[in-house]
Amino acid sequence: MRIDVVSIFPDYFQSAGLSLLGRARAAGLIRLDVHDLRDWTRDRHRTVDDTPYGGGAGMVMSPRPWGEALDAVLAAGELGLAPDDVAGPDGTPGVVLIVPTPSGELFDQPTASRLARATRLVFACGRYEGIDARVARHYRDRAGLEVAELSIGDYVLAGGEVAALVMIEAITRLIPGVLGNAESLAEESHTQAGLLEGPVYTKPPVWRGLEVPPVLLSGDHGRIAAWRQAQAESRTRVMRPGLAAQREN
Ligand code: ADE
Repeated sequence: MRIDVVSIFPDYFQSAGLSLLGRARAAGLIRLDVHDLRDWTRDRHRTVDDTPYGGGAGMVMSPRPWGEALDAVLAAGELGLAPDDVAGPDGTPGVVLIVPTPSGELFDQPTASRLARATRLVFACGRYEGIDARVARHYRDRAGLEVAELSIGDYVLAGGEVAALVMIEAITRLIPGVLGNAESLAEESHTQAGLLEGPVYTKPPVWRGLEVPPVLLSGDHGRIAAWRQAQAESRTRVMRPGLAAQREN
């Protein structure tokens, strides 16, 4: 998968050289390129924002540098979009332009799974009060491109960079070959639709007087699986009653 990020703070993405994502990049499973939006400004101050039409607090990111940056990034290395970049008839995404924003649709595990099948993702990280709305509208009308305005949760961050990192990590670990142990994907929270993972334990069997639940030491795989399922269900009811209610319906 190819991923491009456009941001005025490219250094946020230094962490993408670490851990799982760093290894997936080194192995050639993922290509990640980070671009500085200010490289597409034309004035001495490298201005990327302006005051909002209609008044109000804060600044809005200007469409001009965004348009030039995204045109260049989307065309990079190719003459526009390649045929396999276009969305498939089965709903497989082709190229997706992701705009992290607190006013977007919620990014959840099903969204991550769908985006893991895309050929290419481009993240447009806004700051301040967001990006001029015409930018998303313009690219939505462009053939072969899906535009997804996505929120990682009901809180407001200082910009889209951390949200993009969250999404990149959640998406890329679902790409075949990125995670060493494919089984750990099957059992984890949210993979079984709307069920949280129960508690986990490792050695020693007793730590500060606290015992590991004996069933886990029994060697009885059937009983262990049933216990884990029951733990997952009760944890979901306690931690996320809304999620549990949805599941039970
Ligand atoms: N930018 C600021 N807050 C955000 C959020 N919650 N999700 C995605 N992008 C954001």
